[in-house]
Amino acid sequence: MYINFWYPMATSEELTDKPLKVRGLGQDFVVFRGEDGKAKCLSNTCTHRGGSLAGGKISGDCIQCPYHGWEFDEEGFVKRLPSLGPNPKVPARTRIDAYPVDERHGIVFAFLGDLPEEERPPIIDVPEWGQEGWKSTLQSYTLKGNYERSIENGIDPAHNEFVHDTHGFSGEDEEYHVGEMRMDKVTQWGQGFWHTFKAPPLPKDADFKGAREGAGDLEAGTGYHGPSQVWTYIHLTDDNYMHQYLIERPIDEENIAVYLLCMRNCYTDDKFDENVMDRNLYVAKQDIVIVEDLHPVITPDTNTKEFMVPSDKCILMYRESLKEWSNKGWKIDAKTVAATEKRVAYAIPSPARHEQKGWVLDSIPLLSAEKDSSKLKATG
Ligand code: FES
Ligand SMILES: [Fe+2]
Repeated sequence: MYINFWYPMATSEELTDKPLKVRGLGQDFVVFRGEDGKAKCLSNTCTHRGGSLAGGKISGDCIQCPYHGWEFDEEGFVKRLPSLGPNPKVPARTRIDAYPVDERHGIVFAFLGDLPEEERPPIIDVPEWGQEGWKSTLQSYTLKGNYERSIENGIDPAHNEFVHDTHGFSGEDEEYHVGEMRMDKVTQWGQGFWHTFKAPPLPKDADFKGAREGAGDLEAGTGYHGPSQVWTYIHLTDDNYMHQYLIERPIDEENIAVYLLCMRNCYTDDKFDENVMDRNLYVAKQDIVIVEDLHPVITPDTNTKEFMVPSDKCILMYRESLKEWSNKGWKIDAKTVAATEKRVAYAIPSPARHEQKGWVLDSIPLLSAEKDSSKLKATG
């Protein structure tokens, strides 16, 4: 799992008058909306004696620990420390990590890392958002699987024919093969491709322009952005598009929270929302069955332990990107964390760790940055 990316922590709707305890990257966070209306995200561990802040309550723009009532503001500073009486002099070391928050598309994102603003990888771009003629739905669910396995499933063109009867022929098509993969959306943070595939007939609907009678060629594009976000564009006809964004938060290495944002420029009437979401869930469940039952659960350390074929091209690129981010020193040292976490409370380092020294919680162990990336490639 990687620090220094934006992760979806909750839907906007989930933030009510109660704080939420949200697990991500194997750590706990408290997410809440202050009286100022802004969503906030802090490390969940109280620096006093380890109270779970999400078990406390929102007090104005602060979160109050349920154990002894310390109150932390959105920057992690203690604003109230009741046992010291009114207006106490609060030691700076009591501060907890607070994370930048960006609420958009109905999702509360937090930047889980310590990079300064100008260096942060962006949240996945959703260019259709707010555009005329586009409609959105948002669904969220969890699954018991590894997020890398899930992302790789998302960018794999060859599974559709077998896993999704909505997109393929369940292996009955003798002519089936994966066609040319045309690369697209190549950025510093990800890449993807377009390809043409044969799909079963579209549902005929009075409001749906251009429905086909028989099977036909569909244009589809997909790609990854960062370690846990995928875009999938399906062009049902020349001008009827479904653009989906699978935005994941690794809860830990074996569990995932998924936020599925679906943008469409067809079936735009509200009455189709339910149909679209039902179909999305139908397809997602087919993927979940596969991803929850892969062996090993977590992607192997080297590509030699699986036999890759040309249709796995984008997956190999994703694995190269992960290595690059690991080389930057952004990968959590999961083995060390697992061996020590019963006795050590860790925090994902926040940007304020660059300004202030002396924090109560240890920063989570990270694999050291690799100066010479060619070394890793040679062993991969
Ligand atoms: S443990 Fe949080 S105030 Fe004491
Ligand atoms: Fe799928």
